[in-house]
Amino acid sequence: MQPAPQSAAAPPSPAHVAVIMDGNGRWAKARGLPRVAGHKRGADAVRTIVESCAEMGIRYLTLYAFSSENWKRPAEEVDDLMGLLRIHLTTEIDRMSRNGVRLRFIGDRKRLAPDIVRLIGEAEARTRDNRRLDLVLAINYGGHDEILRAARRLAGEAAAGRLEPDEIDEARFAAALDTAEIPPPDLIIRTSGEQRLSNFLLWQAAYAELIFTSVLWPDFNRQCLADAVAEYHRRERRYGGS
Ligand code: FPP
Repeated sequence: MQPAPQSAAAPPSPAHVAVIMDGNGRWAKARGLPRVAGHKRGADAVRTIVESCAEMGIRYLTLYAFSSENWKRPAEEVDDLMGLLRIHLTTEIDRMSRNGVRLRFIGDRKRLAPDIVRLIGEAEARTRDNRRLDLVLAINYGGHDEILRAARRLAGEAAAGRLEPDEIDEARFAAALDTAEIPPPDLIIRTSGEQRLSNFLLWQAAYAELIFTSVLWPDFNRQCLADAVAEYHRRERRYGGS
């Protein structure tokens, strides 16, 4: 990977970009291929975008890799997606580690296979000191589920007498979410023409710029990312002010 080029005139890149990677199935269908072929090409696009983010000086990249609703897909497709994840967590980890990428995970790990939970733990431990790019993979993630787990945790603290309900403010609540210590996304991109958040980062998306592109995820490349960042810079962020 090249060092992040950032000329004095260029505006700083958004610190945190999050992506709803959509359209793998349609990419495959358009070519008469099985859905898994689209997911494989989607995994290749993940590699390209991780490298592009690091080169562009983006500090955090969150990818919606498997939602808590994705379990409803046919068992074979779920197995294919989990298989790709296993491959990524084993073969890609050396390369990511060498390139200064820190891997983090959000979502509920309880429903994941034990070997995946172990690989996730190892990847986090191994890349903990990397500082170039934090790659946050959302796996078995749902925004409602994350908020409910945080609420239950805080309610438990309150019931145990360790926390007064009035002490629960935005900062306290945010710290109970899976994304504690990760800043909210500046930009959320969704590919494939769909225009919804689909339960992704519901709390954290409050002030994010949303960009929807018709490009299918397997075709999403460095130029597509650069175009989205350019569009982000054309928008004026006011955070509710005038
Ligand atoms: C949506 O396409 C994409 C997903 C359900 C998962 C994204 C997974 C990958 C990119 C591959 C593995 C990821 C990693 C991190 C190794 P879709 O199947 O919903 O497409 P469709 O809407 O066209 O059917």
